[in-house]
Amino acid sequence: MYKTYYVTTPIYYVNDLPHIGTAYTTVVADVLARYHRLKGEKVFFLTGTDEHGQHVARAAERNGVSPQEWADRMVTHFTEVWERLNISNDFFIRTTSPRHAEVARRFIQKLYDKGDIYLDTYEGWYCVPDESFWLPSQLVDGKCPQCGREVEMVQEENYFFRLSAYSDRLLDHIEAHPGFVQPEMRRNEVVSFIKQGLTDQSISRKTITWGIPLPFDESQVMYVWFDALLNYISAIDYGIDDDRFAAIWPADVHLIGKEILRFHAIIWPAMLMAADLPLPRQVFAHGWLTVEGEKMSKSRGNVISPHELIDEYGVDAYRYYFLREFSFGYDGNFSRENMTGRYNADLANALGNMVSRVLAMVERYRGGMVPEASGENDDADSALREAAARVFVEVDAAMGALAFNEALQAIWNYLGSVNRYVDETAAWDLAKDPALEGRLDSVLYNQVEAVRLTALLVLPFMPWTGEGIWSRLGFSDSIYLHHLPAAGAWGLFPPGQTVRKGEPLFPRMERGR
Ligand code: MSP
Repeated sequence: MYKTYYVTTPIYYVNDLPHIGTAYTTVVADVLARYHRLKGEKVFFLTGTDEHGQHVARAAERNGVSPQEWADRMVTHFTEVWERLNISNDFFIRTTSPRHAEVARRFIQKLYDKGDIYLDTYEGWYCVPDESFWLPSQLVDGKCPQCGREVEMVQEENYFFRLSAYSDRLLDHIEAHPGFVQPEMRRNEVVSFIKQGLTDQSISRKTITWGIPLPFDESQVMYVWFDALLNYISAIDYGIDDDRFAAIWPADVHLIGKEILRFHAIIWPAMLMAADLPLPRQVFAHGWLTVEGEKMSKSRGNVISPHELIDEYGVDAYRYYFLREFSFGYDGNFSRENMTGRYNADLANALGNMVSRVLAMVERYRGGMVPEASGENDDADSALREAAARVFVEVDAAMGALAFNEALQAIWNYLGSVNRYVDETAAWDLAKDPALEGRLDSVLYNQVEAVRLTALLVLPFMPWTGEGIWSRLGFSDSIYLHHLPAAGAWGLFPPGQTVRKGEPLFPRMERGR
């Protein structure tokens, strides 16, 4: 049986509104999911919300509602923005759902029965916003080493997970599977962290009630991170529907931000080892976005909502910009000027104008009906076909390496070749000479065929645009019925089909808008 391609995003805390940072991981995951669907693969794409923990409980308290009411209210902000961004997740997991709690309780019971969980006293520091425990030696100026905020002293009897017992197995796994933690610098970070020595982790809280009660001690709730990581298997029915679980697990890739790497590349794999489950194939940590050169934060007042940018630029330009501009894995900076520049150069000009020009010429010279190619190829035709064959290979390699900006560069190089072909073959000159009718037919056909391939290439990144080009090309079926590599072969456009130029895909934007 062919395994489902399984991609996940982190599940987002419901104490904040979604912003362009949280949306970044989700858009990336969506592009990946759509690309694999385009290749005809079965895909399961998961996202959701992390609804337990102390800071959610406190946010609810501040707002005078119960934590569950707070989560129910906040979750809609996520589902709404994902819908607007055209996120095609197959399921949305909420950690307050009964199924999640059931799986989490069964899982922790299994580890307890095995002897991997024991009772001890925890004494140390806790950062509520990050929901992280810290040793006194890890604090920086007495504050959380991760976010710089105040930490609180915690002293209670907790259950601990025997993380230290898994150090060697973790190191062996990372060594044997170089792709497991990526990019490389993150892998090195994880290895050196493990080598410093892992300590057992507190995985329950006694003084808190907002969480999943432990099945073996109902007076304590699960530590929010232990609970949250289990979303990746509760969503696919671990311990409930074994066939379904086996068809989807292990995850092909967990996409995460760099600050939650240790949870995903150390604690989570150790939890899975403890439960005798296979590990995810890859944990890929991306960088952080800054805004006009500054860290995004509420106190700076520079947090940008995806809605704001979608209103200004449109959904597809949004999706394009973040994938094209940032090198996945590294930090990157968002600026409006830069986004407007890319919009005009890449989308309005290179892509939008090319599609309009090609379709307008078919309308002008052949009444919209695409002619048949003569079958003779000159150098320009051959160069175009070669570029078309090359781009699919390049895109596939880049997507396999999660190098989204490289995939887009390859597509835009291809668009450059198509634009060159349009200029060089100069259909407007051919149209002046009746003796060149046959050549004009071939040129028009080739240009339209190049546009058909463009629709497929941009589809995972810009679904509306891919669909829009497809319908302008006169296809009445859904573009989603066509899969790579077969649909990427040259010459599949049916001659005789009528195209229409339609509205511009990306009307030019004035600078400073
Ligand atoms: N709830 C945990 C994850 C649990 S996964 C089992 C969490 N949630 S979060 O809402 O705080 O963050 C979710 C993701 O958003 C993280 O991957 C984080 O890196 C990402 N981002 C938040 N701000 C960001 C930027 N400014 N830039 C890029 N991504 C950032 O952590």
